[in-house]
Amino acid sequence: MNLLLTEYKLNNLLTLKNRIVMAPMTRAHATSEFVPTDEMIDYYARRSACGLIVTEGTIISKDARGHENIPGIFNQAQINKWRLITDKVHSNNGLIFLQIWHVGRVSHPKFLNNNLPIGPSATLMSGKIKREKDLYYGQSQEASLFEINNIINNFAIAAQNAIKAGFDGVEIHGANGYLIDQFLHYHTNHRLDVYGEVPHNLARFAIEVVKACGDTIGFDKVGIRLSPGGYLNEIVGDPKDQLVFKYLLEQLNNYKLAYVHTGSFDDHKTYQELDNLTMSDFIRKFYKGAVIACGSYTLIEAQNGIENNKFDLIAFGRPFIANYDLVEKIKLNKKLIDYNESMLNAIY
Ligand code: FNR
Repeated sequence: MNLLLTEYKLNNLLTLKNRIVMAPMTRAHATSEFVPTDEMIDYYARRSACGLIVTEGTIISKDARGHENIPGIFNQAQINKWRLITDKVHSNNGLIFLQIWHVGRVSHPKFLNNNLPIGPSATLMSGKIKREKDLYYGQSQEASLFEINNIINNFAIAAQNAIKAGFDGVEIHGANGYLIDQFLHYHTNHRLDVYGEVPHNLARFAIEVVKACGDTIGFDKVGIRLSPGGYLNEIVGDPKDQLVFKYLLEQLNNYKLAYVHTGSFDDHKTYQELDNLTMSDFIRKFYKGAVIACGSYTLIEAQNGIENNKFDLIAFGRPFIANYDLVEKIKLNKKLIDYNESMLNAIY
């Protein structure tokens, strides 16, 4: 019996028909006004045989973005179009969460009315911006308490809009070096106020976002993605980071969240700053609820991981781009098509 194909009861509200999750993947195929397109309806509907779809990162406000053509969830036109997507997924008996996103410093004044991107602290980022020609990351500025409050509020509104659009829940994007993750790592958080210096302060912003969303739509409809190891968007791990994530995960046990999801491209990697554990093993150690692992898993590794109780659900990203019928192929034991980057050019 293939464990990947067994049902999983996430909570009283949500039962997944199998253990396979579609990982959130930015496609940058929305309109210039951040509205999903017709192609996106079919793209998600085609993949609704998995237990849960998590959509691409979706911005909570116009200034939450790091490039163009990202979908949003802050106005009626966006809600209406997402509604067509969720309706079609539901008519195929699927479940779908919206990943809600603020990039923080991983942006550029070009997208922000010439203002510097904000982060927990003023930092410098280097490197070319993906999917943009001749545009480079640079200086960010420290978010004020007013701005922080405003962003927390925008996350809660985004969660509410997601429910209006028919989503089964939201996944807070707390991973991969974006805004929430920037608060969680010492490398990017040098604040001296209630959001900095000590682990419970570094975890404060993440917890406030979780609380604001949960209070608005119910905690059983809220998941969060986390990257306890520093690995993407120039986050460098610090030995003290593990205290922040340990505190955060223990606090998350107090809310009956839908799940915690590992944000990683390769979950085989172990991190010195996490006592040489992988990210999913670290999350499993401190978090008592459902864990979704993700990051370069083979089907066999995913099955073994669930069998050995290392995690409850497995998310696949690139395999889902290459194989819209991934679940069907797993059922029939058919060979998978390999992913390659050129597949990102079209949305199918
Ligand atoms: C991603 N990933 C990602 N993660 C996330 O939390 N939000 C996002 O919007 C994106 N965007 C994105 C775009 C593309 C094109 C790829 C390939 C990946 C990361 C993704 O969810 C997943 O963690 C990785 O792809 C690793 O899983 P696989 O692909 O090895 O199964």
